[in-house]
Amino acid sequence: MTKSPTPKTESLTPSPSSNGHLVSGNGHPVSTNGHAANGNGHASNGQATNGQATNGQPAAAPRVRPAGIALFDKVKAYDIPAKIKAAGVWTYFRALESAQDPEVYIDGKKLVMLGSNNYLGLTNDPRVKEAAIDAVRRYGTGCAGSRLLNGTMKIHEELEEKLADFMGKQAAVTFSTGFQVNLGTISCLLDRRDIVYLDKQDHACIIDGARLGLGEIRKFRHNSPADLRRMMQADEASDAGKGGGKLVVVDGVYSMEGDICPLPEIVDICKDYGAAVMVDDAHGIGVLGDGRGTSRHFGVDDDVQLIMGTFSKSMASVGGFVCGDRETMDFVKHRARTNMFSAAPSPANVAAASIAVDIMKTEPERREKLWKNTQFMLAGFRALGFDTADSNTPVIPVVVGEDFTAFAMATRLHQEGVFVNAVVSPATPPGRALLRTSYMATHEESHLSFALDKFAKVGREFGVIA
Ligand SMILES: Cc1ncc(COP(=O)(O)O)c(C=O)c1O
Repeated sequence: MTKSPTPKTESLTPSPSSNGHLVSGNGHPVSTNGHAANGNGHASNGQATNGQATNGQPAAAPRVRPAGIALFDKVKAYDIPAKIKAAGVWTYFRALESAQDPEVYIDGKKLVMLGSNNYLGLTNDPRVKEAAIDAVRRYGTGCAGSRLLNGTMKIHEELEEKLADFMGKQAAVTFSTGFQVNLGTISCLLDRRDIVYLDKQDHACIIDGARLGLGEIRKFRHNSPADLRRMMQADEASDAGKGGGKLVVVDGVYSMEGDICPLPEIVDICKDYGAAVMVDDAHGIGVLGDGRGTSRHFGVDDDVQLIMGTFSKSMASVGGFVCGDRETMDFVKHRARTNMFSAAPSPANVAAASIAVDIMKTEPERREKLWKNTQFMLAGFRALGFDTADSNTPVIPVVVGEDFTAFAMATRLHQEGVFVNAVVSPATPPGRALLRTSYMATHEESHLSFALDKFAKVGREFGVIA
């Protein structure tokens, strides 16, 4: 294949579409329900419009209805997916016909899966599936309410105790998704005088949780303890947040580029300024530090007050948890709105996560295999000349630059039998689009060698490697 043309990224930015306005061709407004606007002076609700209101007050002028519902103008103008599809490089929402295994099927085609967060390969493990089925037999399919009211089942409490023990904390609270953990926990902890400091690459749900809170938000440069210290110094000097508390929230492993947070330095700064540390360890638990995550990896667990995890990656399920001291967990349980006003995680999800924790504890060979696969791929990509940024975890980015290059390369890799995720701005800084690859304990070397060969072929086609 010859080198693929690389259309300009600007062509993928939204433009107001010509049919975006609900105005009929003759310039007269048309109501959205297809009826002509009422121009005969009679109000459509049957009230008099002859200048006298029925209650003796002057009548309001007849209302000219707007041409359409302005709210939806942006929807009509939103044409990015259509443009990418028209360019033939759309790889989002691909529907799998099989489980999240090293090989998957899409439209009957077999692909090597390099896009799953099923790090320990447990989502299709017979023991995990059986545990989920057993929980359905005993507890049914749903909880029909929030934890606070009727939704708590014995298995929620058992899992919370197991997670707290596993993570070395006093208590844990489960939520229905990891996103809800951050949204609910961070927002309920932030009062008006508090300040929350976020890494610029923090996951979206951390940012949204901070936005929902009442405190002030600061964002420091990605993985830059020096910038965090500078901000804390400046706040102290200006009396900002006087009388309030400080919270620093970081990812343990950053989800797009697989780089690890310099947690010991962050913890050190937090001690200097009396700040609490919260680690989102969605990609660290099951992977780093004997499976206990980034804080254990660095040996700073006791100095990290709050750790959150998700069930949707190593833990083979859907849901999430936060753990910490008993008092704070009790507060979160009673104040996090995403817990109080949302249904409890389903029995099947809880049971799957619970047995996944048991397997993480008893089968370290899975983690060892995951790391072996990771080292194999890091070395393979680097030998081929790909830019894998600062990754040193099973999340390995291949930085390609322009958004379109990422879409087009992901499409070509799909054609060649490899599933990867194209990640573009705003999930990455502009001009730093990447192919996010991620690995499982259940990948065999044959899968990985196959994928590397295809990467080499496609990378050369696009001039990303020589
Ligand atoms: C770093 C990080 N935090 C939180 C979440 C949210 O987890 P969940 O998928 O359980 O909602 C994700 C998932 O993408 C994540 O990558």
